[in-house]
Amino acid sequence: MIRSFASFACVVAACMLASCGNSNNGTAADKPADTAAAVASALPDAKNFTDSLDGKTTGLFILKNRNGATAAITSYGARVVSLLVPGKNGEMTDVALGYDSVGKYIHQPETYFGAIVGRYGNRIGKGKFKLEGKEYKLATNNGPNHLHGGLKGFGAHVWDAKKVNDSTLELTYLSQDQEEGYPGNLQSKVTYTLLGDSTNCLKIEYEATTDKATVVNLTNHTYFNLNGQGSGTINNHLLQVNADKYTPVDSTLIPTGKIESVAGTPFDFRQPTAIGARIDSPNQQLKFGTGYDHNFVLNPNKGSGLNLAATVLGDQSGIFMEVLTNQPGIQFYGGNFMNGSNPLKGGKKDDHRTAFCLETQHFPDSPNEPSFPSTELKPGQQYKTTTVYRFSVKK
Ligand code: BGC
Repeated sequence: MIRSFASFACVVAACMLASCGNSNNGTAADKPADTAAAVASALPDAKNFTDSLDGKTTGLFILKNRNGATAAITSYGARVVSLLVPGKNGEMTDVALGYDSVGKYIHQPETYFGAIVGRYGNRIGKGKFKLEGKEYKLATNNGPNHLHGGLKGFGAHVWDAKKVNDSTLELTYLSQDQEEGYPGNLQSKVTYTLLGDSTNCLKIEYEATTDKATVVNLTNHTYFNLNGQGSGTINNHLLQVNADKYTPVDSTLIPTGKIESVAGTPFDFRQPTAIGARIDSPNQQLKFGTGYDHNFVLNPNKGSGLNLAATVLGDQSGIFMEVLTNQPGIQFYGGNFMNGSNPLKGGKKDDHRTAFCLETQHFPDSPNEPSFPSTELKPGQQYKTTTVYRFSVKK
């Protein structure tokens, strides 16, 4: 039985301790040889990720936990390339869409697969904002607006990578003052850790400091299909979002500034609901987004630790993903702009709505909406957020 979020919230803190909160990750050495072989054959060839770009060398880094769960991360954009977790029959399933070479990440039309998005995740209206009385003009790369950090956001830069141990990778990137129009040198760090006990968790820790007042909103843009990347529609996945409210948008997907109730709308995912159940409803917001492409206002955390923001169940694999975060919002994007034009790993295709993103974040266009939680970062302050994607199986 799937519990409601009210009862769920009470157990989140305890779950965090019991699952992936405090575990010894061990190594994958004791995993059966067939699991190890299945994982190895599903991973892209690391050679295809060695390239030279902007005076730096790109690479592919493999993280493993004691259960044999595996993540492949490239330093090009600090991206999740592959994420292998067990399905209901124990088969290792790659739930993250990605390409099999760094060249495709650079040249294919879809540029956000698995990427760390920054300096500002999602849109800033007309690419303008004011900070401490000064107006800043950003690159506009999405109609009249600025999207995901501009023409060359954080996902298109080579990060410096440091493998800390079998399950942890640290990546750093210095975004220069005025890059894409943003003020201040922003030193940013993202740490991926693949934890494992009775569940498998990909923990992402984001940190940043600046030398001038700026705005920051870092997120990860992994496209998930819990039945396996490239395995068809996500419209039968069951989604639950811990949000009574969302931020409606205008026709260019900029929030109107209002915070509205999800009750009685296709945005009510407070109970587990098939993603596609109401996708064709005659709803203006769905028309503007050409489907789901909206920020949900997460209900306040009732416990300590991270807030359980959303859950998704893969209808065929039984893979159950929980998203935990200390961010106030989550962008649910249902793959509306996917059109099969990007060749995925293993010869798969990125057809329409065959993946979803759950991007933990501050709300889009916050720099222009004083009533939204602030995204300002000042010198001397430390930006620090954490998101965990936790995987288990429901039979
Ligand atoms: C945005 C979509 C955009 C997608 C790009 C999402 O975060 O909200 O509008 O098309 O990213 O992959």
